[in-house]
Amino acid sequence: MVKKSSDDPLTPYGNKPMVTPIVNAVNYEYLDFDVLGKITDGEIDGYTYHRDDNPTVRVVEEQIAEMEEAPDCVICSTGMAACAMVYLTYLSAGDNLVVFHDVYGAHYKVSLILERMGVTVTWVDASESLNLDQYVIPETKMIFMETPTNPLCKVIDIRKAKAAADKAGAMLVVDNTFATPFHQKPLELGADLVVHSATKALGGHNDLMAGAIVGSKEHYDELWFTRQAIGTTLDAYSASLLERGLKTFNLRAEKMACNAMAVSEYLRGNSNMTNVRYPGLDDDPGHGIAMRQMKNGFGGVMAFDVGETQDDAKNFISALKRIYHAVSLGSTESLICIPYLTTMLYMPKERRTGFGVNLNTVRLSVGIEPAEDLIADIKQASFAI
Ligand SMILES: Cc1ncc(COP(=O)(O)O)c(C=O)c1O
Repeated sequence: MVKKSSDDPLTPYGNKPMVTPIVNAVNYEYLDFDVLGKITDGEIDGYTYHRDDNPTVRVVEEQIAEMEEAPDCVICSTGMAACAMVYLTYLSAGDNLVVFHDVYGAHYKVSLILERMGVTVTWVDASESLNLDQYVIPETKMIFMETPTNPLCKVIDIRKAKAAADKAGAMLVVDNTFATPFHQKPLELGADLVVHSATKALGGHNDLMAGAIVGSKEHYDELWFTRQAIGTTLDAYSASLLERGLKTFNLRAEKMACNAMAVSEYLRGNSNMTNVRYPGLDDDPGHGIAMRQMKNGFGGVMAFDVGETQDDAKNFISALKRIYHAVSLGSTESLICIPYLTTMLYMPKERRTGFGVNLNTVRLSVGIEPAEDLIADIKQASFAI
């Protein structure tokens, strides 16, 4: 017979459950009136409404903050929600945003919304990252970047970007989805905020969508205000799945990086494949910077051109047996796609190429399968080109 109970929704059974309980409650019964004044002041003692806070979500926020060695983390419904929350919280009409062409395609759509709201947007090619000073203007309030970038895995020097941001008094935001906290800690390198599509390697199993924003306690308060206002809160069930993914995250990240190294080295020697981009390869243009700012390997994503035409890339992908033709990345299964036809669809055609992406460029995210199985699969599919 259970003798002890607790009012804490996370320890309802007296002892602490090994797995954080999924608290699905939308609202909580007030036990006294004293709490109501505090709600108006924005200082809520205890939980009241899911859009504000949820105990299951909060546990995962603390875990991701710890992984990035950051004071705090705000979790939200998707990776793009995280990016949009950062823009909405810190940019106003008249401000300028400097953002790299080499970011996830959906930023292009977000930039159209920002421009409608009076924010000017300056697009910079990753190859210009060392000349960022030339793009930053007095109105620049934020530099937003990914490294390695999506889809070409270009590497941008975070310390140099921070120096350019400092000159303008702007904040530096780094999307760390491709690198993951296992390989890169942008806050240590000077970033003000880190964002993640936790849908990817943090979750790791293609079964949840979530976003995370990591930074100081002050940033937590500002971003929490936005999340509560616009309702980009994550549901408790997805938070629980994310917590489960995080338990094996280090193991998966290590294995994916080992696999990616082996697969990219194989691709470099396959005459059907060109422009193999993976920061771990010693002849990759980003290798030197990656060696300085990444650790424990270089992540699980790479890009390369297949044959000469898009049909070559399509024939190759169709012949793969073990690697799945699907978007997304960072999961236990290996996934391959043609960015021009998928992740870059958010952009007008003329913007999709021109920065190194070709019609036959593919993005491969390796999973945790045996590396030799992946190499054998690529080898046999090469005959279809
Ligand atoms: C680097 C990067 N950031 C952000 C996102 C957006 O994440 P989500 O799909 O969870 O909204 C993606 C999606 O592919 C991504 O690759």
